[in-house]
Amino acid sequence: MYTSLKPILETELQSIKDQSLWKDERVIMSPQGREITVGDKKLLNFCANNYLGFSGTDGVREASDAALARWGFGQASVRFICGTQGIHKELERATAEFLRFDDAILYSSCFMANVGLFQTFFGPDDAIISDELNHASIIDAIRLTKSERLVYAHMDMADLEEKLKSVQDKRLRVIATDGVFSMDGHIAPLNEICDLADKYNALVMVDDAHATGVLGATGRGTPEFTGTEGRVDFLTGTYGKALGGAGGAFIVSHQEVVDYLRQRSRTYLFSNAMEVGTCGASLYTLDYIQKHPELVEKLRSNTALFRQLMSEAGFNVAGGEHPITPIMFAEEKDAVDTARKLFDEGIYVVGFSFPVVPKGKARIRVQISAAHTEDDIRLLVEKFVTVNKK
Ligand SMILES: Cc1ncc(COP(=O)(O)O)c(C=O)c1O
Repeated sequence: MYTSLKPILETELQSIKDQSLWKDERVIMSPQGREITVGDKKLLNFCANNYLGFSGTDGVREASDAALARWGFGQASVRFICGTQGIHKELERATAEFLRFDDAILYSSCFMANVGLFQTFFGPDDAIISDELNHASIIDAIRLTKSERLVYAHMDMADLEEKLKSVQDKRLRVIATDGVFSMDGHIAPLNEICDLADKYNALVMVDDAHATGVLGATGRGTPEFTGTEGRVDFLTGTYGKALGGAGGAFIVSHQEVVDYLRQRSRTYLFSNAMEVGTCGASLYTLDYIQKHPELVEKLRSNTALFRQLMSEAGFNVAGGEHPITPIMFAEEKDAVDTARKLFDEGIYVVGFSFPVVPKGKARIRVQISAAHTEDDIRLLVEKFVTVNKK
């Protein structure tokens, strides 16, 4: 009877509002892109994970349309029963080749890839050592295992080493980290992580959702950026950010790992095959970025220009080389107010304050895209300056 749940939800919903944690979703009335329409207002968009600018383009839509025309709308089946089509195998091959792993396996989302990974390999005899700021999907995925769980301080290699030492009696040890941490734009020190993994006989798992197509000279992600290709054991990623933006995801790994996932991974086995339109669009974006390395370069130069101009204008610019660029504010209120004023000026960014981020770490998280022009970046900085003066 719903009467038992209703009062609980009413109290919870009110409590979310009372704590100022209520999330209002702005309704976008245009395709995703460099410019979007909210209501009847046109805005320059600086808060999507559309790093390479593919979302909303004719190229991805046409590739998706062509795949739908060739392969039909949906499989109405999981992969192992009646759901594997030629295009799924083609995308797995293309993804593994691009990222230089033995093989790839598709999932409906990166959340599901993470959930499907840990419980397949790690049980009560094993230990999982996870960065404290890892994405929610890694945290939930680890909770679903019966392994010993250890959390190390964010990117703190001394703490990671201590944790590794403490689980030397376990059958397996795995270090789990985001390649890029989405709130701060921090890039995981994979070099040091892989060195520790070698020293303490541990496996390395990286969630490169924000890095595939973004980091490294040719967009092969955090391993390419940090020079650790060949040293990461499991890498999860998404087609739902830089590689098109619709959804779908993958794990790339050693051959035996992928073979075993196909036999045992529950979120693969018991969930529909990845949608073919998205497969077609993802094949298109993978091919495009390999033929057009200037796209990744444009993202890098846009990011560098924004960081430089904002620093020169006196703003506190956090993060590093990743296009996630947090602009820090001393006062909580200023971050949220500045984002609101920027919206009025035709710029779409989001302000984060406590309790979404720690006290004293309020910020506007700006996300740069290769689709932005140099003029867009200069205008963004100008607007930050104008609004802050006001
Ligand atoms: C680090 C990280 N991992 C996983 C995910 C989930 O990706 P997907 O949308 O493909 O489920 C996200 C998305 O926000 C993410 O930022």
